[in-house]
Amino acid sequence: MLKTNHFFPPVVLLFLLLSTNASPDPQVTPPPTPTIAKRQVAGGAGTPILSTLHYAYTALPYQVYPYPVLRGPQYGFNQCNASTLGSTSNCQTLIFNGPDDFCLWGSPDPAGLIGNEEAKVVAYCTKPWHGTRVIPPGAITGLQWTKTSAYIQVVGFINNTGLSLDPTDSGGELDPHGADLQGNPLGGVVFSNGTTDSDGTTLTQVYNWNTFVGSGQFCFKACYNSITSPDYCLNIYDLIGCSYNMPSAAQDGQFTSCDGDLQDIVGTYTVNGQTLTWSMPDPLNTPPPYQPRVPASSNCQTYHSTDILLAASSTSASGLSATGSASKSGSAAASTASKTSGSVPRVGKRSPFLEFGLAGVVILFGVGMVL
Ligand SMILES: *[C@@H]1O[C@H](CO)[C@@H](O)[C@H](O)[C@H]1NC(C)=O
Ligand SMILES: *[C@@H]1O[C@H](CO)[C@@H](O)[C@H](O)[C@H]1NC(C)=O
Ligand SMILES: *[C@@H]1O[C@H](CO)[C@@H](O)[C@H](O)[C@H]1NC(C)=O
Repeated sequence: MLKTNHFFPPVVLLFLLLSTNASPDPQVTPPPTPTIAKRQVAGGAGTPILSTLHYAYTALPYQVYPYPVLRGPQYGFNQCNASTLGSTSNCQTLIFNGPDDFCLWGSPDPAGLIGNEEAKVVAYCTKPWHGTRVIPPGAITGLQWTKTSAYIQVVGFINNTGLSLDPTDSGGELDPHGADLQGNPLGGVVFSNGTTDSDGTTLTQVYNWNTFVGSGQFCFKACYNSITSPDYCLNIYDLIGCSYNMPSAAQDGQFTSCDGDLQDIVGTYTVNGQTLTWSMPDPLNTPPPYQPRVPASSNCQTYHSTDILLAASSTSASGLSATGSASKSGSAAASTASKTSGSVPRVGKRSPFLEFGLAGVVILFGVGMVL
């Protein structure tokens, strides 16, 4: 709920109060077995750390986290195949192959809020190939897929309801760590044939990833296992959303796949040739002191949405066929940045109103500059 906050001037507070999203703070999903051992800690006996559980796709157990400890056991399952495909699938194995074949985490319940569902979210995929729920045709309205030397990522625009999220949900951040190191979703694993850890065909586990979804946007980054330093999949900047964690030239209405330069490590920025590091306070009451640099992209291919997503009339998969190509540089993103700046400071999982507080501050700054 709104807390007394001496930072915000009255007009911002008014903005906050008028905001339709003054929803209660999200609660972490209650542990299914509350009698068991809050005293147990991740990493102890029977409480393995999720990000250290490594599998071949074909050797996944039914659940990677069946342990009834901490927030466990896992809500869904990891053996996903044709028999588990469909709108009630609770598959928690997420495939992230390419612009024509990837999944996002969404709510298992209708009109869910990421803040409430973060431990339970299930895979929603662009294609009906992975034993999961399927993102409805038309829900994704634009995206940019980027392949870099350290990670692959997608940034785009989606109707919240395509992931069974409440239309007003501003969402939050998900990653395989979490306070108890069991991940959000708990037991969720990610596989790809598009990272350099794969031979290009074999689905290979992605140990380190992070994602934001909500407010009609999504971003997902899969870091290569071979590159652990620097860490491009930091999960500690969870209140500042896609535009700071995965700066991109994605534009609504466009579908592109590009090679990309590396982004700056989140929180680092350069002023007068000097690299500075910003640590995110929590709560976050002011915008970060910098604008993220959008890395240059190249060799972009442009697609029609039905080339890479399901056509509305059909659930059969069409191949990925380029219909043109365009080069896009980092500077092209300036318009994107301003276009999406209202939602730049994406809320994290802990305090939904902060986004609007931050947006209010940004808007006020903007108004101030205009005046
Ligand atoms: C398909 O998935 C179900 C549910 O996870 C599992 O019980 C079954 O063994 C799987 N089938 C195959 C052939 O892997
Ligand atoms: C999102 O999808 C729902 C369900 O299809 C639809 O009713 C709604 O109008 C869509 N919202 C937007 C902003 O397109
Ligand atoms: C990787 O997965 C995609 C999508 O499932 C598939 O089309 C492609 O053929 C795979 N790549 C290779 C080299 O097998």
